[in-house]
Amino acid sequence: MNISSERIPNNVNLSDDKRLQRALEQWQPHFLNWWQEMGPDGFLAHEVYLRTAVSVDEGGWANYGYVRMPDYRWGIFLAPPVEDRRIGFGDNLGQPVWHEVPGEFRNALRRLIVTQGDTEPASVEQQRLLGRTCPSLYDLRNLFQVNVEEGRHLWAMVYLLQDYFGRDGREEAEELLERRSGQSDHPRLLEAFNQPIADWLSFFCFTMFTDRDGKYQLLALAESGFDALSRTTRFMLTEEAHHMFVGESGIERVVQRTVELMANNPDTDVRKLGGIDLLTVQKYVNMWYSASLDLFGGEISSNAAEYFAAGLKGRYKEDKYTDHVALDGTYAMPVVEEGRLIQQDVPLRNAMNEILRDAYARDSDRGVQRWNKHLEEAGFSVRIQLPNRRFNRHIGIYSGTRFDPDGNMLTQAEWDTQKNQWLPTADDLAYVRSLMKPVIEPGKMAGWIAAPRKGINGLPVDFEYVRTDG
Ligand SMILES: [Fe+2]
Ligand SMILES: [Fe+2]
Repeated sequence: MNISSERIPNNVNLSDDKRLQRALEQWQPHFLNWWQEMGPDGFLAHEVYLRTAVSVDEGGWANYGYVRMPDYRWGIFLAPPVEDRRIGFGDNLGQPVWHEVPGEFRNALRRLIVTQGDTEPASVEQQRLLGRTCPSLYDLRNLFQVNVEEGRHLWAMVYLLQDYFGRDGREEAEELLERRSGQSDHPRLLEAFNQPIADWLSFFCFTMFTDRDGKYQLLALAESGFDALSRTTRFMLTEEAHHMFVGESGIERVVQRTVELMANNPDTDVRKLGGIDLLTVQKYVNMWYSASLDLFGGEISSNAAEYFAAGLKGRYKEDKYTDHVALDGTYAMPVVEEGRLIQQDVPLRNAMNEILRDAYARDSDRGVQRWNKHLEEAGFSVRIQLPNRRFNRHIGIYSGTRFDPDGNMLTQAEWDTQKNQWLPTADDLAYVRSLMKPVIEPGKMAGWIAAPRKGINGLPVDFEYVRTDG
């Protein structure tokens, strides 16, 4: 089989690079098998109105048209090079960026790329059954758009592994297709990517919170001194914005619908009307936000310090800082000591995960406040809130201790008696799942979610985003 540059849209001169072509020729059929087996269940023959990246020119990354998902043209794109680009932080500040992998950072870079790469197919696997219960064709199309682009992000990481890491890179590329989300003997690398996403409220929370972790990881890697990694991740970020939109606007529409039901029937339990009550939304937010915070890693991290020192992974918007070496400063954070929270000054480089988590938390909160506008406008006093970042953590310095959503320390007994107020119970999950019935008539919406304000790419909401006649 010959992979022509038309089959794999790219701006890496694939047709001139025989070695890379050969590596991709071996990998591509395995990827397609994986897509058949683990990609969206049941819609392989349907035409879906999708955007495809065909170039990095303005507009080139968003080419719209009907395509069957197995025929999607997964491409390899790097953002245009920056002339005379220099390493922007750490011990190598001001040195020219690397166009090959420096030997001493080879393992660390490979680990960063594999960890990022593993999340991309993992999320497709987690979401594979959702198409069966879509609340509308518009949402079904958005799910598939996210899925094919996560597939392309896998290609992006595999390109780096195959072009820059020789044989072990090719082996890692194969393993990215062999691990499976939630499989006990060969799971995905990160815990949040091993939980099935069994209902659409979870999907919206995932794209709102978990995908947003991905965005911040990509932003930190976009600062990298390894230029190919920086350029690859910068291009991935153009696609990521839509994934955030799907999550943020998805939950917004759920809140909007619930507000509508509450306003029209003030004395009736929203669940009796087929809506999702705000407490359940809040519990889902608590669950997914806390799980996503874990993905940033420990608050005090020597790995993060090493990545920063080496120039591999920077801060969000590194150029906004004045001190790019970060050897002198400290970061004050509350730590648990002898059963109490005390303030501790952590050397700045060791706090890089926490600094990235700060940017993520601000961004997440901005989205939550948009949902709250609907509550405010309807005259309700209740608000959706992000839980304190110490709540329900399984990684980092707060993971061994119980905290309530305001960040107050609890005993295990206090946690046990109250956790059902904060996290979805089996009943809550069962209720949300009971609402998941497919709605596939163009323009129609399930009863628990409001219609979007507008459609995709300027098209009306009732456009046939997925041709259901197969
Ligand atoms: Fe992604
Ligand atoms: Fe994404």
